[in-house]
Amino acid sequence: MSPVFNFSAGPAVLPRDVLLTVQEELVDWHGSGMCVMEMSHRGREFTQIIHEAEADLRKLLNIPSNYRVLFMQGGAHFQFSMLPLNLSREGDTVDYVNTGHWSKIAIKEARRFANVHIAASGEDSHFSSIPAEAGWQRSANAAYLHYCSNETIGGVEFPFIPQSAFGGNEVPLICDMSSNILSRPVDVSKFGLIYAGAQKNIGPSGLTLVIVREDLLGHARPSTPTMLDYSVHADAESLYNTPPTFGIYVAGLVFKWLLEQGGLAAVEQINIEKAALLYEAIDASNGFYTCPVEKPFRSRMNVPFMLHDDALDDAFLGDAKAAGLLQLKGHRSVGGMRASIYNAMPLEGVQVLTSFMREFARTHG
Ligand SMILES: Cc1ncc(COP(=O)(O)O)c(C=O)c1O
Repeated sequence: MSPVFNFSAGPAVLPRDVLLTVQEELVDWHGSGMCVMEMSHRGREFTQIIHEAEADLRKLLNIPSNYRVLFMQGGAHFQFSMLPLNLSREGDTVDYVNTGHWSKIAIKEARRFANVHIAASGEDSHFSSIPAEAGWQRSANAAYLHYCSNETIGGVEFPFIPQSAFGGNEVPLICDMSSNILSRPVDVSKFGLIYAGAQKNIGPSGLTLVIVREDLLGHARPSTPTMLDYSVHADAESLYNTPPTFGIYVAGLVFKWLLEQGGLAAVEQINIEKAALLYEAIDASNGFYTCPVEKPFRSRMNVPFMLHDDALDDAFLGDAKAAGLLQLKGHRSVGGMRASIYNAMPLEGVQVLTSFMREFARTHG
């Protein structure tokens, strides 16, 4: 069978070596006679798995010791409500930056619990760029500042980390890193809290990662449901209830695979190369393909592009599929195409895609 490349935005491609390890270990994990799915989450074997996963993640992201790592459930969507419930009090103002689809959903949910102030919005540019930080209108007393570092649907990625300090105050910086976590090194110490659904760069869906600074724990509103209180999960070391054990196991294998690649600095170089190749193919197509995102804000992970005539979309997708290039259809709210090129997408996948795109443009131009 010729190779297949999966450009899904999530759940997304996993490293082939990781899948092969899962296959090899599936029915008998390390001579235990059990599949990881069959193990007690409090048993010796799973304790080793979750501890190793956390240690490897800490190594990869160089997570300072005053941050807790939580393996949770509920997707990034749960975080949209956990944040205001845990990090703001009734009547507080919270600052949000609106850079597109996922920012808007986070904002809508936060409005149920707090006064949301939009510190900056990319709406005027149809979310094709990120407003310069110097022009942001931040609140004098926000409980936190929230942004989404990579808009998975719009394909807009922050090329900078916003300042947390404002007006002489240290305001906790909160980031939805669902679709670009682990794609490059990041200074965790600049953040109050980072969260990410696993199903793009971490592992299978069902697992949600939270990295939170310790001083932000223990301040949940009294009415917060127990399961939505970060400190409950931190105190129980992510075992308050049964966690997504298999997802944590696979994420742990992905962390080991990333370390074997040379860590995030090495992974970033490959991601830069892959993204450059794809944007170059779009920009050099004489308008056959266009990308709606302004160059400085183009995502390295999710590349949306349009064909000059959308009547060709079905033919493009059909021919791409026949060539082993899967799940290239753009999000229904945007149309066109989207190629998600997460860590696990090999350079070869982007090379095959760009050759295919050039040939398609030649024969349909
Ligand atoms: C940036 C971003 N935030 C949040 C979400 C929502 O994640 P979940 O489906 O895990 O709740 C997604 C999902 O694709 C996303 O890409």
